Amino acid sequence: MNRKIVAGNWKMNLDRQEAQLLSSEIAGMMQDEVPASAQVILFPPFPYLGMISKQLENDKRIFIGAQNCSEHESGAYTGEVSAKMIRSCGASHVLVGHSERRSYFQESDAVLSKKINIALKNNLRPVFCCGESLNQRNSNSHFDIIQSQLENGLFHLSENEMNRCVIAYEPVWAIGTGMTASPAQAQEMHEFIRKTVAVKYNFSVASALTILYGGSCNEKNASELFALPDVDGGLIGGASLKSRSFITIVKALSEQQ
Ligand code: PGA
Repeated sequence: MNRKIVAGNWKMNLDRQEAQLLSSEIAGMMQDEVPASAQVILFPPFPYLGMISKQLENDKRIFIGAQNCSEHESGAYTGEVSAKMIRSCGASHVLVGHSERRSYFQESDAVLSKKINIALKNNLRPVFCCGESLNQRNSNSHFDIIQSQLENGLFHLSENEMNRCVIAYEPVWAIGTGMTASPAQAQEMHEFIRKTVAVKYNFSVASALTILYGGSCNEKNASELFALPDVDGGLIGGASLKSRSFITIVKALSEQQ
């Protein structure tokens, strides 16, 4: 996988036909319009994972991921979906710790670290999301918050395991609000994350690490954000639901490479 990548988080949107259409439009545009080196990850809802993985199985530039996984291996957990099931549907990635999971489903750092372990064990690459609330930023505790989310969720991993992870910095106040982080705010936090990983692991782990920005990233602001030295691409919510917008964002990243 490239260090630089654009990911689309479809959240709880689209019916089966719409999901099929969106993924085929994205695959077609990737083929026709985007330089061959570009790669993307799509995060469709669970019920479409198998269908879309099958649909795109010959496309080496599009990875498929799930938006969540259970912290348990298997068993009597009605309604839950395991990492093994996700892997067996053809997915290669999983989002862990999205702020909507942390806040609406009370996912604690302890639970998230179990999800990271189970994802890695089942050969899925975790995309670990971190981010501060507006109150936390206003009270100037945003660096401490991110540091503790990394320490509690990820830093128990070995160097080899860490090499398989992606980090997404998504300030909670920017998600779905239209209030994108400024380039200065994004660069400052991405640089902080990379340095924190370098201190915990080493320079080579930190410099190979993919750190995505998420939170109202769209076709208008993507180029400016992707030009920043520590921003390796984006985790896109709303703007990933329209093929044209998503591909424009993918092209914005390719132009930086
Ligand atoms: P947004 O969502 O692009 O709609 O702000 C990003 C995300 O939640 O991953």
